[in-house]
Amino acid sequence: MFDYRDQYLDLEKEVLGAVQRVLRSGELILGSEVEKFESGFSDFLGHGTHSLGVANGTDALVICLMALGVGPGDEVITVANTAVPTVSAIRMVRATPVFADVDPETSLMDLNLVPGLITSKTRAIIPVHLFGNAVNMPLLLDIARPYNISVVEDCAQAHGTLINGRAAGTFGHAAAFSFYPTKNLGAYGDGGLCTTADASLAKEMRRIRKYGFDDLYYAEREGINSRLDEVQAAILNIKLRYLPAQLQKRRALAEVYKAGLPTSLRHMAAPSNIEHAYHLFVVRSKERDALRAALASHNIQTGIHYPFPIHRMRGYTFLGYQDRSLPITEALANEIVSLPLYPELPLESAHRVLDTLHEILDLNS
Ligand SMILES: Cc1ncc(COP(=O)(O)O)c(C=O)c1O
Repeated sequence: MFDYRDQYLDLEKEVLGAVQRVLRSGELILGSEVEKFESGFSDFLGHGTHSLGVANGTDALVICLMALGVGPGDEVITVANTAVPTVSAIRMVRATPVFADVDPETSLMDLNLVPGLITSKTRAIIPVHLFGNAVNMPLLLDIARPYNISVVEDCAQAHGTLINGRAAGTFGHAAAFSFYPTKNLGAYGDGGLCTTADASLAKEMRRIRKYGFDDLYYAEREGINSRLDEVQAAILNIKLRYLPAQLQKRRALAEVYKAGLPTSLRHMAAPSNIEHAYHLFVVRSKERDALRAALASHNIQTGIHYPFPIHRMRGYTFLGYQDRSLPITEALANEIVSLPLYPELPLESAHRVLDTLHEILDLNS
């Protein structure tokens, strides 16, 4: 599915040069590379966004929630078909996740269900822009506004996604990005970033990422330690320059898949106002497991994102969803499959995947 070395080998000289520069600079934590990356990423997103680099995407969500005052006893509405860390972050501030079922066409939060989940305890909503697709943020903000509920966008899979021509991550009160190596913009280690358009919220986030400090050794509030380091920031500064071209490659591969998919496979499509960033290309099939096995026998690796809905995991039985069903989320977990898609994948390989899919499915029809 993905091997970071395909890309690293192209960038090796530049990356090693940058790492050497950092190590010789005498500045390893929260220095000029992080500052440069924060302003570069803000420029990439546009809309006057403040960015701050943190240790990983999970911490980015935690810091957003802490800065917005979400804590014990509060409820946070999100989805159960996301990466587990969306929910870990809610639990790290001791709030309670409340799961909305999803739209079967997109597998994103079904916004029609959100009003019915709002209670007097709801303090935040975390829409997850899964696969590089995006939740309709203007509509979600309209739903949240009358209740004074904060909206934190989970953009871990949505670097480069546009909603009505504007970057995902610039709509909510705050947003969280991950630079885990597989992401559209990946570090060579862990990394994350919080964004907000609100300068005072950004100041609070900066305090939280560094023990609550404005100045050394004095906590203005409770904080944690979650910093992006200079080496990863220097690598990200290089890779950010290539991100627009890489997004183009992802979109070109997705167009190949969309044009040639067998009719029995349904693509988890983007609504017309969304420009998908194709972190993953996900299709739905009733014969998912047999299809994956047949593809594997042709040496084509696929993934499932994600095979287990979070409300059904042992680690989250305490949330009490045993008698409650999220029917679309549960059905999707058995039917979705992610086809190979990353910028370095040659177009011919995408055609080979399509030919193989036709061969397998036409044989069975
Ligand atoms: C949707 C989603 N949210 C949050 C995260 C957490 O990011 P990280 O692994 O950098 O902590 C990830 C990545 O794993 C993710 O895919």
